[in-house]
Amino acid sequence: MQGNIIPHNFSVDLEQLKAIKNHNAFLIWFTGLSGSGKSTIANALNQSLLERKVHTCILDGDSVRKGLNKDLTFSPEDRTENIRRIAEVANLMITHAGLVVLGAFISPYEIDRARIKEIVGKDKYVEVYVSTPLAVCEAQDVKGLYKKARAGEIKDFTGIDAPYEVPKHPTITIDATKYTIEEASSLVLTYIERKLNADG
Ligand code: ADX
Repeated sequence: MQGNIIPHNFSVDLEQLKAIKNHNAFLIWFTGLSGSGKSTIANALNQSLLERKVHTCILDGDSVRKGLNKDLTFSPEDRTENIRRIAEVANLMITHAGLVVLGAFISPYEIDRARIKEIVGKDKYVEVYVSTPLAVCEAQDVKGLYKKARAGEIKDFTGIDAPYEVPKHPTITIDATKYTIEEASSLVLTYIERKLNADG
């Protein structure tokens, strides 16, 4: 099958997209436990980027799993497939649309995160580990899911009866309990400032 797929040579390329948008295109990937603050920090960063006229797209577990990936469960295999599809979508958004993509997904397995880096290219991958401790995520339990997981009503819940592999070499680590949302978002913004520069 794959042998019969011959990609079309599209004439608009990434360099042209960068030139009209005036910034580089890459992926900012937030990983961490459910309720760690990934989507909240990504949202604040997205707002700051918009104010700077940076063209972005934000994706998170709850939105993608309601549509594109609604056929997937939280088994290890399905989480791998979830992350693979998102990485491929992010890659298309980078190379075909010139966007800065913000992704907020638990992505608990090191091997899956390594694959994202392979798919988009290591120069286009910024990994933000939101390291908020389990005890804090569980105490806040914003969505009430930890309570359900402890009661056995949800199986394979990350941090309860499914693993979270702590990233070995994240680009940035943020414990959301130590910063305001604005501070956390600024930490990432400061880091990516140079990367955004289309000449850089
Ligand atoms: S991932 O592990 O495959 O990367 P993803 O980020 O897409 O997870 O989705 C996580 C979100 O799904 C959580 O924030 C939570 O709201 C919800 N969820 C529902 N069931 C589970 C579960 N078993 N484990 C983790 N999150 C779950």
